[in-house]
Amino acid sequence: MRKLLIAGNWKMNQGPEDTAQFFEALATSKPADISRIDAAVCPPFISLPEAKNGNAKLPDIAIGAQNVSSEENGAFTGEVSATMLKELNCDYAITGHSERREYFGETDAQICKKNLKALEHGLTPITCVGEVLDQRKSERHFKVVEEQLTGVMKGFSKEQAEKTVVAYEPVWAIGTGETATPDQAQEMHKFIREILGKMFGDQTAEKIRILYGGSMKPGNAAELIDQPDVDGGLIGGASLKSDSYSELLKIAQEKSG
Ligand code: PGA
Repeated sequence: MRKLLIAGNWKMNQGPEDTAQFFEALATSKPADISRIDAAVCPPFISLPEAKNGNAKLPDIAIGAQNVSSEENGAFTGEVSATMLKELNCDYAITGHSERREYFGETDAQICKKNLKALEHGLTPITCVGEVLDQRKSERHFKVVEEQLTGVMKGFSKEQAEKTVVAYEPVWAIGTGETATPDQAQEMHKFIREILGKMFGDQTAEKIRILYGGSMKPGNAAELIDQPDVDGGLIGGASLKSDSYSELLKIAQEKSG
C-alpha cells in the first residue's frame, strides 16, 4: 500500500518569521493523529532553519526544499547542495517544478541530475511533470508527460525509482483555481504508472507515489485522493495557512483509514 503524502510547496512565500508563526499555529490546528500519512512542507531555503525548529517540535511534519543543486559543492554561486539541505533536516526536495522550467529554463536532463544528487544524499525528490494548456488542447499531453518523465528519471535503478515521488501538475491548473477533474487526474496518473511500469517493471511502479498538484484545496482534495492512482498532493496556495494545511492532513488521514 502506498502511503499518501501531503506536501506543501510554499514557493517564494513565508520568510523565517512567517515560518515560525506557521509552525506555532500548526501545533494547535494539526490533527493529533496523522500516523497513516506522510506530511511535509517545503518553505524557501532561507526559512528552512525555522522549519527545522518547527519539525523538532512537530516531528510528523517533515520538511523539504523547493530545489537542490545537481552539484556536490564548490563554485556554483547561488546554489544550495543536498548535503546542506540534509544538515537542515530536509527529507524532500522538489525538482523540476513548472515554474523552474518556465522562468529558469530547467531542462529534463538538469532535473534528472538533481534527482540523482538528491537520492545520493538520502533526499527524496518530488519531481514534477505536467503539460501546459496548449499541449492539452492539442491532445499532446500524454506525449509531453511521457517525455518529461523518461527524461527526469533517465538511468535510474529500480531502487532509485522506488524512492522517488512523482508529482503530476498540469500547468493550466497551477495557481489558477482551475483543478483537473478527478477523472482527468486519474487518467494521467494511471498513464504515468504505466510508463513507470515500462521503465522499471510493474512491481516497482506500484510502489512509486504519484502526487497531484494544481489548485488542490480542502474543498476538492477528498475526491482527488479517492482516485486509485492519486497518492496525495503537492499543494501551493492552500498549504500556506496552517488551518487549511491541517484540513488537508485531516482529509488524507481519514481517507487512509
Ligand atoms: P497551487 O500550486 O496549489 O497553488 O495551484 C501547486 C504547485 O505549483 O505546486
